[in-house]
Amino acid sequence: INVAIVFGGKSAEHEVSLQSAKNIIDAIDREKYDVVLIGVDKDGCWQVNEEDSFLLNEHDPKAISLKKTSSKIAILPGEKQGQVFDYETKEVLPQIDVVFPIIHGTLGEDGSMQGLLRTLNLPFVGVDLLGSAVSMDKDFAKRILRDAGIAVANGLVYKKFEQSNIDFNFVQSKLGLPLFVKPVNQGSSVGVNKVETKAEFDQAIAEAYMYDDKVLIEEAIVGREIECAVLGNDEPIASLPGEILPQTDFYSYESKYIDDSGAVLSAPAELTDEQTEKVQNEAIRVFKTLDCEGMARVDFFMKSDGTLIVNEVNTVPGFTKISMYPRLWGITGLPYPKLIDRLIELAFE
Ligand code: DAL
Ligand code: MG
Repeated sequence: INVAIVFGGKSAEHEVSLQSAKNIIDAIDREKYDVVLIGVDKDGCWQVNEEDSFLLNEHDPKAISLKKTSSKIAILPGEKQGQVFDYETKEVLPQIDVVFPIIHGTLGEDGSMQGLLRTLNLPFVGVDLLGSAVSMDKDFAKRILRDAGIAVANGLVYKKFEQSNIDFNFVQSKLGLPLFVKPVNQGSSVGVNKVETKAEFDQAIAEAYMYDDKVLIEEAIVGREIECAVLGNDEPIASLPGEILPQTDFYSYESKYIDDSGAVLSAPAELTDEQTEKVQNEAIRVFKTLDCEGMARVDFFMKSDGTLIVNEVNTVPGFTKISMYPRLWGITGLPYPKLIDRLIELAFE
């Protein structure tokens, strides 16, 4: 089976995706699968990458970048479905049977990629178009979860053209302090800030609009950060939960990938059996409510009284060395290569 791993991408999480891809490539079962590595550069050009040279700075994981190849490729639909055509060399490369898209964020996780792959009639790993689009949009995801009776943090959303109407005093009276300011469509906490004052608030709003034309302002929830991995299609299963113990103000992009000491990931989370089961059941309910399939990581806050509040759902969760999704499956008894195997199997179901 020829598996195309599509990674990189134009989003702010390009570098995270390179790390995720590297780990998947290292773990995939080579006896069973042949891999075609398709890197998408920051301009959005697709290229086939040589096995061991797709990263420039392989030995410095904090400074990796996609190596430019001369080749730009197209994946063909219709009669030639899944054929890769190199339009520099005019060569036809191996046929793709299934795609493992591991581009996080915009154009990778928001349904765009999934729509493209559907149009090409290619099976792919992970959530389909609708679930991807809805889960990525924090505003829409919250509305749908709320409609199903699932608790989410209170928030206000403003489109770009409404920016001048945003009034700190009004927002504060509705949501209290501190506040979280987030671009609606982003991942890895890019453009996210926790603010206490009007000056910080104004700056955070301006920053969030740099990444999206919709901004979400949320109340801060006091609670433990608990994450759960979900796997499956019609009958999804949930992993043991893990916990993020932020060592900084919150679990920011820097603390995720730049500064290793920024957060401690504890897996499994220290929970009672009853709490574990509650997290798992709720994660599966969230997964189904948002029309997910294949995989997703559901991130919660757990308040001191045990109440769960959904923070967000990641339909292309990180697969980096420090990432929770593969790690949680590892401690639940599904090692990395078996996890990838299962995800590919699910793509064909
Ligand atoms: N958005 C990053 C990759 C994550 O959720 O793991
Ligand atoms: Mg995310």
